Amino acid sequence: MEAIAFTDVSKSYGDVLAVDGLDLSVRAGTTVALLGPNGAGKSTSVNMLLGLLRPTRGRVEVLGRSPDEAVARGEVGAMLQSGELIPELTVRETVDFVRRLYPDPLDLDEILAMADLAGLAKRRAGKLSEGQAQRVRFAMAVAGAPELLLLDEPTAAMDVESRLRFWAGMRDYAARGRTVLFATHYLQEADENSDRVVVIARGGVVADGTAAEIKAGVGGQAVHFTLGRQPAAGLDALPGVTAVGIQAGAATLQTTDADATVAALYRGTSLEVRDLRIAGADLEEAFLTLTRES
Ligand SMILES: Nc1ncnc2c1ncn2[C@@H]1O[C@H](COP(=O)(O)OP(=O)(O)OP(=O)(O)O)[C@@H](O)[C@H]1O
Ligand SMILES: [Mg+2]
Repeated sequence: MEAIAFTDVSKSYGDVLAVDGLDLSVRAGTTVALLGPNGAGKSTSVNMLLGLLRPTRGRVEVLGRSPDEAVARGEVGAMLQSGELIPELTVRETVDFVRRLYPDPLDLDEILAMADLAGLAKRRAGKLSEGQAQRVRFAMAVAGAPELLLLDEPTAAMDVESRLRFWAGMRDYAARGRTVLFATHYLQEADENSDRVVVIARGGVVADGTAAEIKAGVGGQAVHFTLGRQPAAGLDALPGVTAVGIQAGAATLQTTDADATVAALYRGTSLEVRDLRIAGADLEEAFLTLTRES
């Protein structure tokens, strides 16, 4: 069962193309990191999963339904980049208020423990630090025991210690068989806390795999991408390239310098490069190469 399916989804804000032909599906029970630089389209994608934004083109499905239906059924929980708390309510009251909106919520004390809030239960929301408020937002997101949990840069205001505890809580939730998608620009967070890393840049997927796959094998780097019906002429002349393979519209370039090859592929050719993936690169190196502006 697919928990998330984007099919050729684009979203424009006026003349800004924020998401560009996104194809992405996520199997239920998986934890996926959506990794990308500022402006890559992460929040736009998350907001479409929540039905807060409509795609300009294409189709978005959540748990086999429209996002609106899935949300209305209480199947989706979310922690967004913004979100006000009611300052007069205590942490406990806030979380309890939210969990009572759902048909089959988690136990209140269980939620407070998972979000590391037991010691702050009586504190008024208006007196919390920003990192503590983030933990309350996480508690609100899991309160209804959603099948799909969406977290948009959840650790933004947290210190190192809070981050570690936050991710432990998230993994605890994911271990119950739930699907989690989180957006981040931190490679390490993506690497340590997900089953699958989807790198997006300029509104499209540029790499997709386990963190280990993305950084696997330092020697024998290969650049893979979808060429479709475009001509392959000239690919063998790109810097670093030692061999070119084309099979069913998929191109594989063996290279001694993946950075130079990818840069030239974007800057030196007029090809529309999709689904680009580098095997054998360090994750950080691959991320920078993949997401660098062309
Ligand atoms: N309401 C809006 N109106 C116009 N442009 C927008 C709007 N929201 C987002 N954008 C633009 O769409 C693109 C994608 O933005 P989005 O917020 O989805 O990126 P992001 O990956 O979440 O970035 P960040 O890491 O900074 O949160 C950016 O170029 C942004 O400026
Ligand atoms: Mg964002």
